[in-house]
Amino acid sequence: MEIKSATFVISSSNYKQCPDTGLPEYAFIGRSNVGKSSLINMLTRNKGLAKTSVRPGKTQLINHFIINGKWYIVDLPGYGYARTSKTSRGLWQKMTADYFLNREQLVNTFVLIDSRIPPQRIDLEFLSFLGVNGVPLSIVFTKIDKQNQRETMKNINAFKQAMKEEWEQLPELFLTSSVTGYGRDRLLDYINEINNSINK
Ligand code: GTP
Ligand code: MG
Repeated sequence: MEIKSATFVISSSNYKQCPDTGLPEYAFIGRSNVGKSSLINMLTRNKGLAKTSVRPGKTQLINHFIINGKWYIVDLPGYGYARTSKTSRGLWQKMTADYFLNREQLVNTFVLIDSRIPPQRIDLEFLSFLGVNGVPLSIVFTKIDKQNQRETMKNINAFKQAMKEEWEQLPELFLTSSVTGYGRDRLLDYINEINNSINK
């Protein structure tokens, strides 16, 4: 799929403020600093579209971007940032949980996992939350440019193993690098397929 246009639409602090056009949307979620905003910029080939930072906790709201005038990418704040207060963690949980539980236009959630590290409990728990609530999801391993392929595969296989303890069937898995662009075509094709299946 070609991306002809990608435009910021709105930042919302509540799912009720999100666009009510009914167009399908794809959410990007994962631990703080995992590379959600960078991946969105890589997919849209627009480095300044979603705000990124070397420090975790950059994205604070639900951000909608419209793609080709037909579907949305949604950038969300990350979870698991140790230095946020309990209050703001609570607010994050409410904002994102409400979004995932109520957003009818949400057709797929990409859960981003850092390919540099072994399986983390917080990621597995978040996946369970989505799974239990029937939110459709895929997994995207990020930052594969940071280490050799052997290390990446070791972490991915360990993650799959950990998931198998709870999940009967594994979701679709993607490997990406926002630096090299690896994984871009496959991810966009996947989104395209879902969009086409909706329009039938
Ligand atoms: P929050 O909004 O704080 O939750 O973070 P985020 O998940 O949106 O992460 P962001 O895209 O801001 O990236 C965090 C840091 O990781 C930045 O310094 C990025 O340059 C870096 N980064 C993201 N993706 C990649 C990647 O694929 N490869 C490399 N080498 N660095 C990456
Ligand atoms: Mg971000």
